[in-house]
Amino acid sequence: MSLQIVSPTGGIAPLLRAEGVSLEYGGTRATHDVSFDVYRGDRFVLLGPSGCGKSSLLKAAAGFIAPAAGSIAINGAPVRGPGPDRIVVFQEFDQLPPWKTVKENVMFPLLMTKRVSRHEAAERAMHWIGKVGLSGFEDAHPHTLSGGMKQRVAIARALAMQPEVLLMDEPFAALDALTRRKMQEELGRLWEELRFTLLFVTHSIEEALVVGNRILLLSPHPGQVRAELNSHQFDLASAGSLEFQAATQRIHGLLFGEAATAVAVSPAHAGDHAERAVKRSMDSGVRRNDGL
Ligand SMILES: Nc1ncnc2c1ncn2[C@@H]1O[C@H](COP(=O)(O)OP(=O)(O)O)[C@@H](O)[C@H]1O
Ligand SMILES: [Mg+2]
Repeated sequence: MSLQIVSPTGGIAPLLRAEGVSLEYGGTRATHDVSFDVYRGDRFVLLGPSGCGKSSLLKAAAGFIAPAAGSIAINGAPVRGPGPDRIVVFQEFDQLPPWKTVKENVMFPLLMTKRVSRHEAAERAMHWIGKVGLSGFEDAHPHTLSGGMKQRVAIARALAMQPEVLLMDEPFAALDALTRRKMQEELGRLWEELRFTLLFVTHSIEEALVVGNRILLLSPHPGQVRAELNSHQFDLASAGSLEFQAATQRIHGLLFGEAATAVAVSPAHAGDHAERAVKRSMDSGVRRNDGL
């Protein structure tokens, strides 16, 4: 099956809705009129070249920055600031306070938000530390851990909060290739088990295909929606296949200036919501940018 340009429709309300979101820094536009819907259980990927505003969109969803125009809503309620329903895992390994042990790091947001007692926070922390494969390291401090292990702690800390949406900003980009692959695999395994909702940012086409079930393609700076694709059929096992390579090429073309073609699409898969084709006009004057 080839990649299909799709747009979710149907009666199901999205969990997270971005509508016409333009983000600005001091009058400079980082994204322009970006709209997308994330449904419960989606692994929704924002894909585009460096500087196209992926992190800014994630920060807006997290409530760290406010749109200059447009809106972002969770369960129909406008995002007005950060909240425990949206937890971010960043790329940087220093997102863990170094003076806290692994267990204390995972417990910290649970205690801060007064969600549970100290006893229950400790129990939950141990549970999630186990889930990310770090049993035995609960009393270790971050500086004694590898990059991959630190990212596991950040994932455990996020999932322990049981957020409505897990937000991940290039969480594996600073890892070596093998560790990155392993982490992608484990994220997939966790998702299979827990079916959380994921909003994931990457500039890697391959990672987008492996991690996502839906991908929003953003044009170079300022980020605008190029297309939305269905990618549920791909995973690490299919990563070397001809079909996967064709999808990679296709996305590259869509991102960097291939002439727009509307794709006739039948309902793409038996997902949680119906999908239909959309015709999106593509800006043909896009700069080629191999920095993706
Ligand atoms: N704090 C900031 N102040 C000023 N400009 C920023 C800030 N953060 C991001 N930008 C600019 O906004 C644009 C989008 O950045 P960003 O969201 O980080 O893109 P991406 O994550 O896709 O690489 C870039 O041009 C970047 O320079
Ligand atoms: Mg970024």
